[in-house]
Amino acid sequence: MLTRLLLLLLLFNAAIAWQKCKCLPGDPCFPSPSTWASFAKNLSQPLISQLPLAAPCYTTSPAYDPQACAAVQAQQSSSSFLAASSNGIQWTNFMELVANDTVYQCVYDPKPNATCYQGRVPSYSINVSTVTDVQQTIKFATTHNLHLVVKNNGHENLGRMFGYGSVELFMHNLQNSTFTDSFVPEGAPSGTAGQFAVTIDPGVQWGTLYSLASQNNRTVAGGIGAGGTVGAGAGWPLGGGHSVLSPYYGLGVDNVLQFSVVLPNASFVVTNQYQYPDLFWALRGGGGPNFGVVLKTTYRTHPNPPYTAAFYTATANSNASYFQLLETFNKHHNSIADSGWAGFWPFQDQTLYLTLIAQGAPTYNTTANATLQSFISDSAAISGVNITLNKQVIYSNFEDWYYNNFINSTNGFGYNYSLADAGGLRVTVSSWLIPRDVFDNNATALAQAWLGIPASRPFMVGGGAVAQADPDSSAVTPAWRRTISDVIVANIWAENATVAEIQAVKQGVYDQIQPLRELAPVPYGGQYINEPDDLEVDWQGAYWGRHYPRLLALKKIIDPNDLFIVYKGVNSESWDVNAVCKTLP
Ligand SMILES: Cc1cc2nc3c(=O)[nH]c(=O)nc-3n(C[C@H](O)[C@H](O)[C@H](O)COP(=O)(O)OP(=O)(O)OC[C@H]3O[C@@H](n4cnc5c(N)ncnc54)[C@H](O)[C@@H]3O)c2cc1C
Ligand SMILES: *[C@@H]1O[C@H](CO)[C@@H](O)[C@H](O)[C@H]1NC(C)=O
Ligand SMILES: *[C@@H]1O[C@H](CO)[C@@H](O)[C@H](O)[C@H]1NC(C)=O
Ligand SMILES: *[C@@H]1O[C@H](CO)[C@@H](O)[C@H](O)[C@H]1NC(C)=O
Ligand SMILES: *[C@@H]1O[C@H](CO)[C@@H](O)[C@H](O)[C@H]1NC(C)=O
Ligand SMILES: *[C@@H]1O[C@H](CO)[C@@H](O)[C@H](O)[C@H]1NC(C)=O
Ligand SMILES: *[C@@H]1O[C@H](CO)[C@@H](O)[C@H](O)[C@H]1NC(C)=O
Ligand SMILES: *[C@@H]1O[C@H](CO)[C@@H](O)[C@H](O)[C@H]1NC(C)=O
Ligand SMILES: *[C@@H]1O[C@H](CO)[C@@H](O)[C@H](O)[C@H]1NC(C)=O
Ligand SMILES: *[C@@H]1O[C@H](CO)[C@@H](O)[C@H](O)[C@H]1NC(C)=O
Ligand SMILES: *[C@@H]1O[C@H](CO)[C@@H](O)[C@H](O)[C@H]1NC(C)=O
Ligand SMILES: *[C@@H]1O[C@H](CO)[C@@H](O)[C@H](O)[C@H]1NC(C)=O
Ligand SMILES: *[C@@H]1O[C@H](CO)[C@@H](O)[C@H](O)[C@H]1NC(C)=O
Repeated sequence: MLTRLLLLLLLFNAAIAWQKCKCLPGDPCFPSPSTWASFAKNLSQPLISQLPLAAPCYTTSPAYDPQACAAVQAQQSSSSFLAASSNGIQWTNFMELVANDTVYQCVYDPKPNATCYQGRVPSYSINVSTVTDVQQTIKFATTHNLHLVVKNNGHENLGRMFGYGSVELFMHNLQNSTFTDSFVPEGAPSGTAGQFAVTIDPGVQWGTLYSLASQNNRTVAGGIGAGGTVGAGAGWPLGGGHSVLSPYYGLGVDNVLQFSVVLPNASFVVTNQYQYPDLFWALRGGGGPNFGVVLKTTYRTHPNPPYTAAFYTATANSNASYFQLLETFNKHHNSIADSGWAGFWPFQDQTLYLTLIAQGAPTYNTTANATLQSFISDSAAISGVNITLNKQVIYSNFEDWYYNNFINSTNGFGYNYSLADAGGLRVTVSSWLIPRDVFDNNATALAQAWLGIPASRPFMVGGGAVAQADPDSSAVTPAWRRTISDVIVANIWAENATVAEIQAVKQGVYDQIQPLRELAPVPYGGQYINEPDDLEVDWQGAYWGRHYPRLLALKKIIDPNDLFIVYKGVNSESWDVNAVCKTLP
C-alpha cells in the first residue's frame, strides 16, 4: 500500500516535471505589454516587436503595406539582407512552423485574405549593442521562463537561431574588429609573449573580415561560403569552423585564443586556456548557443603569402566512365591533400570539378604539382572522360583568390561558387566526415556512394594542421582529426510542399549519405554540427563522439535551468522538438 502510494507520488511528481513548458506568447504567464515596456527601458536600443518579413504583403495583417511588401519581395533572396534583418534568416523553412500536419507560413505572394502566421519567427527582438543588453535579457527571460533564442547572421542549417514562441537576442549589429600583433590572453602568466590576433564582435561576416585582414597583411582561417555573409564570430567557431585554410592553420576552434561570453546565469566572463578552461573547451565545438552568448572572439592571425590555385573540370560521357573518374579521384585524394592542396571538389551531372589552392608560388611543397598531375594524367587516360579545364593561376594573397572565385566570379575559373549565394530557399542538408583511411581502403565503395548523390560540393579542409591538433583539446568530434574531406549534400522544396513531401526531401538527403555512415560509422566518422541532418538519429555521437558525456555534464552545471536548449543541442534529449516543453525529468 505504502509502496503504491509512493509510486503514485513519484509518478505525480515526474508528471509535473515532464510537463514543464516555457512561457509562449498568448500564455497567461507571458509578460504583458506593460511589463515589456518597463523591460525595454533597461535596453540600449529600442525593443523590437516583430512580425514575419512578409507580413506587409497580407491584407489581413496590421502591417499591410504594399510598398513595404514590394521592398521585401525584392530582397527575399539576398543573403546579406536576411543576415541583417532581426526577423529574417538565410533559409525560409526555419521561419515556418510545421505542426499538426500543417506548414504555418507567411509568404511573399499570399492568396487573398490568407493569414500570415508567426511560425518560428521570434515575436520580440533585443537589438544587442552592449553586454548589459544581454545580461538584462537573460535575467528577464529567466524570471518569465521565456523561450530565448540567439540570432547572429542567420546561416545556421537547422533553424536553431529561431524558434516557436521565441524571444530573440539579435547579435548582428555588433560589428567591431581590432587587429593586434601583441595579444596576450587574460590571466596568462606574466611574461607570456604577445601574438598576432584579431578580436571581433559576433556580427562580423567572413567577407568583411577577409578584406580587413588583407588590409592588415594577415589572413584568418575562416568560412568559404559564397558571398561571404556567414558570421565569423559566433555560430561558425562555436560549431568548429572549417576553412580552406584549415589544413595549414587548423579548424576555427584551433585558432580561437579567447572568448568573452555571458553565461546563462547572466555573469560576463572572459575565457581562454588559462581562465575557465572547461568552459573554453566546451565553447569550442559544443555548438551555439549551448554554453552562453558570445560577445567577443579572438582569433590567431597568420601571414599573408601568395597562393597557387588549380582549376580542373572533367566530363564523363557515360555512367561507367563517370564512376571510373570518381574512383580515380578517390585513389589520389589523400596524396593530393598531403602535398598541400585544399579546396573543393564538386561533382554533379557526370562532371567533376576541382577548385584547389596550395600555399606559395611556386608551391611551398615541391611535390604538390606532381601529385595533382598524377591524378590528371590518370583521369585523362579514362576512355569517355573529357578534361575541359586544366589551369593553374597565381594569386598574390588569399583574399585575391577568394574575391575572384567566391564574391565576384567574373574573373574566376571552373565551378561558379558565387551562383550558389542565394538565400530565401527552403533547404535541408546532410553531411559526413570521412576519415582519410576510407579513401585509401574503400575507393571503389566510395565511388559507388558518389553515384547515389546527384550533386555535392565536398570541402577538402582537413588533414595537415587539423590532423595534428590534440583530438581532446576542444569539444569537436575526434573524427574531425581523421578527416580530410567533409561531404555535404542539400535539397530544396517549394513553398506549397505538403508536410509529407517535405519529409520525403529530408529522407532523400539522409539516404544519400547513408552509404557514408556505413563506411565510416560513429564514432569513427561523424557529422559537422553546422551541416546537420535533420533526421540524424545518434546526433550526439555524430556531432561529438566521445566528447558528449563531458559536454552534457558541463551543460548541466553551466545551464542548470535549461535556458539555452536548441533542437539537437546539448541536453535537448529531454525536451520536445520545439525546445518548448521538457519531456523527461
Ligand atoms: C552559404 C553557407 C556557407 C557556409 N560555409 C561554411 C564554411 O565554409 N565553413 C563552415 O564551417 N561552415 C559553413 N557554413 C555553416 C555555418 O558555419 C553555420 O551556418 C553557422 O552556424 C553560421 O553562423 P551565423 O552566425 O551566420 O548564424 P546564426 O544562425 O545566426 O547562428 C548560428 C548558431 O549560433 C547561435 N548563436 C548566434 N549568435 C550567437 C552568439 N553570439 N553566442 C552564442 N551563440 C550564438 C545561434 O543560436 C545558432 O544556433 C555555411 C553555411 C551557409 C548557409
Ligand atoms: C531593469 O533593470 C533593473 C536594474 O538592473 C532591474 O532591477 C529591473 O528588474 C529591470 N527591469 C526589468 C523589467 O527587467
Ligand atoms: C495543434 O493542435 C493542437 C490540438 O488541437 C493545438 O492545441 C495546438 O495549438 C496546435 N498547434 C498549432 C501550432 O497550432
Ligand atoms: C476577403 O475578405 C473580405 C472581408 O471578409 C471579403 O469581403 C472578401 O470577399 C474576401 N475576398 C476573397 C477573395 O475571399
Ligand atoms: C539596432 O541597433 C543599431 C546599433 O547597434 C542601430 O544602428 C539600429 O538602427 C538598430 N535597429 C533597430 C531596428 O532599431
Ligand atoms: C572597436 O574597435 C576599436 C579599434 O579597432 C576600439 O578602439 C574600440 O574600443 C572598439 N569599440 C568597441 C565598442 O568594442
Ligand atoms: C605581407 O606579408 C607577406 C608575408 O606574409 C610579405 O612577404 C609581404 O612583403 C607583406 N607585404 C607588405 C605590403 O607588407
Ligand atoms: C609535401 O608533400 C608530401 C606528399 O607529396 C608529404 O609527404 C610531405 O609531408 C609534404 N611536406 C610538407 C612540409 O608538408
Ligand atoms: C606541373 O607539371 C606539369 C606536368 O608534368 C608540367 O607541365 C608543369 O610545367 C608543372 N608546373 C609547375 C608549376 O611546375
Ligand atoms: C571535349 O570538350 C570540349 C569542350 O567542351 C569539346 O569541344 C570537345 O568536342 C569534347 N571532346 C570530346 C571527345 O567529347
Ligand atoms: C566584377 O568584376 C568585373 C570584372 O573585373 C567588373 O566589371 C564588375 O563590375 C564586377 N562586379 C561587381 C558587382 O563588382
Ligand atoms: C572498406 O575497407 C575495409 C578495410 O580494407 C574493409 O574491411 C571493408 O570491407 C571495406 N568496405 C567496403 C564496403 O568495401
Ligand atoms: C505548387 O507550386 C508550383 C509552382 O511553384 C505549381 O506548379 C504546383 O502546381 C503547385 N502544387 C500544388 C499542389 O499546388
